[in-house]
Amino acid sequence: MRISPLQSALLALAFAKEVTRIPRPALQRFLWESEDEKALRHRLSQLVYQANQTADQKIFEAAGEHIRVNRDAVDCDVDDYSSAVRSGDFEKAWNMLERGFLSACNYRRTSAFVDWIEEQRIVKRSLLRRAALSAWEEAEAAQEWSLARRSAEVLLHLDPREETILRRVMRARVLAGQVREAEAVYRTFAERVDPSGGQWTPERATTTLLRNVQDLLHDPIADSRAAADRSPLPPLVGRRAELTELTRSLFEPRPNAGWRTIAVHGEAGVGKTRLVREAISSARFRGYRVMEASAVQLERKILLGPLLDPLSDPWVLPFSRTLDEPWRSSMLALVPELQQGSKPLHDPSPPRGGELSRHTCDAFLRLFTRIAESQKTILSVDGFQWMDEASIAVLQFLRRRWQRGEMTLLVTFCEEELRLGTSVARFIREEELRRSTTSIHLTALDDMAAVKLARSVAPENSHHSLAVIARAAGGNPRFVIDLATTNGAPPGRSSSDMAVPPSVRRLVTRRLELLDDDARKVVCGLAVVGNGASLDRLRVIADSTRAECLDALDTLHRLRLVDWAPEGIAFRHEIFRHAVYQQIHPSRRSVLHARTARLLYRASGDSALIEAARHYRLAGESRHASICAH
Ligand SMILES: Nc1ncnc2c1ncn2[C@@H]1O[C@H](COP(=O)(O)OP(=O)(O)OP(=O)(O)O)[C@@H](O)[C@H]1O
Ligand SMILES: [Mg+2]
Repeated sequence: MRISPLQSALLALAFAKEVTRIPRPALQRFLWESEDEKALRHRLSQLVYQANQTADQKIFEAAGEHIRVNRDAVDCDVDDYSSAVRSGDFEKAWNMLERGFLSACNYRRTSAFVDWIEEQRIVKRSLLRRAALSAWEEAEAAQEWSLARRSAEVLLHLDPREETILRRVMRARVLAGQVREAEAVYRTFAERVDPSGGQWTPERATTTLLRNVQDLLHDPIADSRAAADRSPLPPLVGRRAELTELTRSLFEPRPNAGWRTIAVHGEAGVGKTRLVREAISSARFRGYRVMEASAVQLERKILLGPLLDPLSDPWVLPFSRTLDEPWRSSMLALVPELQQGSKPLHDPSPPRGGELSRHTCDAFLRLFTRIAESQKTILSVDGFQWMDEASIAVLQFLRRRWQRGEMTLLVTFCEEELRLGTSVARFIREEELRRSTTSIHLTALDDMAAVKLARSVAPENSHHSLAVIARAAGGNPRFVIDLATTNGAPPGRSSSDMAVPPSVRRLVTRRLELLDDDARKVVCGLAVVGNGASLDRLRVIADSTRAECLDALDTLHRLRLVDWAPEGIAFRHEIFRHAVYQQIHPSRRSVLHARTARLLYRASGDSALIEAARHYRLAGESRHASICAH
């Protein structure tokens, strides 16, 4: 279709905005510079007629003082552009913007039309800028760095000489794990704004950021961490709200410096460590110092282990040197790495047994205060439930006497492994009562997120298998990953023939070790009889009294193994039942199956009989099984 310049100008004016009619005077003013209203009215009607003729359809229609526009008749790139911006496809929108919308329109006869074209260009650019900016803000709050990077890159296309945007792109690159690319972005920017070199002085924030990036590139520890990070961690799914809350509590500006605690808790494998890692990955770039510690069950007896670990990093050395005696010697006695090049005044002799002198606690307080005064600091302790008594005593001391410097204690703990009455449990309860404490409870992933996670680690599985896996894992991310990778599930696989992955077996073994005889009898009984048992039925199978059974269920509930719902008593996750079942000695299993079968045989109904037959078979009593079956 060949269209005249005037027709193309009319199309441009009509389709630039998402409207269905345009006032005649506006069109006339843009297209012709003449005062003769009557003549212009006639010319516009003629133009509308010709345009419809050329297109062979009714694109325009005269309607009194307006020209109506039939938007369905024409595919319009401006509409595509708007929908690309709206749906967040910023690269596509940018490409369209760069190609230009009105390149085919060479009508330039009035200055009003030329100005209008320029205005459209600005409007379209600012539409994209606004959308990319708000996407950046959202992605930054949710720590979705690859999304944040894409938004920032489009912003940089739009303002290629803007240093604040350069910094955003660099930060997003680093936080998305692309440190080398962050440096490359800086180089490209420098070449663009200063091709001959020597004319451009970057802002201080840009230089500091570049230095941080280069430090990361040449820091062997960060390198090895980055290498570890490259190991295939599945992408984070769900957790948007929790991550936003954690990031906000960690980084929101505080009117008064001081101490505060943030606790992330939930059952084992639910994703506490992962969430914290995601949140603190941006801390350094936000100007925070992060000290990472972790407490391990087997090292509970090592005095102060989790606190001394991060203090042995070389950067602590200058801070320890500024301590007065006798505190410096106290710290040196505890952390031999701090002795480098400086002789302690007193003979360093580490504290013995579980005793901690007030003196040692004071030394910790002074050192941590020095550190936090120089830079806002996050002390992150993973697996807090395994902290030794001495470390807790030190933290309690710091907490009570903290005066200067911004310090955040960020801990993760697993409630069911927190032993009531211990000093760790008391510390956590005390902290949770304070207003300044944030407590984030992680629950299982919802179905959609769990299936998405399963698909990301085992993409070859059918949707049905992934859904079975997600359900059997009860939405616990560790179990989802392990089940999906252990059970290369053929389509249609049910949860009953699923292999129990080692992580679940370990966890269940650990929990079983904490049980007394009564609780163990009940949990084994439940594994045999199956989910949905009533208290009375379970009591008979476990061979316990009602009171014993209730006590046992209390313990099992506290350890997050078993829940008691209106439909009956059940394992928290189906896969726990398999794990417990597999740990019962076969002879004991037979006894339990036989007891269950007898109970069901006495109950009425066909389904009970079928079940009884199944239990007799599993008990090895095939004669009884066939009696039930007939
Ligand atoms: N939201 C998530 N998206 C994707 N993967 C996740 C998510 N949450 C956790 N994971 C993965 O699940 C596994 C277990 O998570 P993580 O180690 O954080 O659990 P945890 O709660 O700290 O467990 P524990 O109590 O044993 O310390 C890890 O491989 C982690 O990367
Ligand atoms: Mg963890």
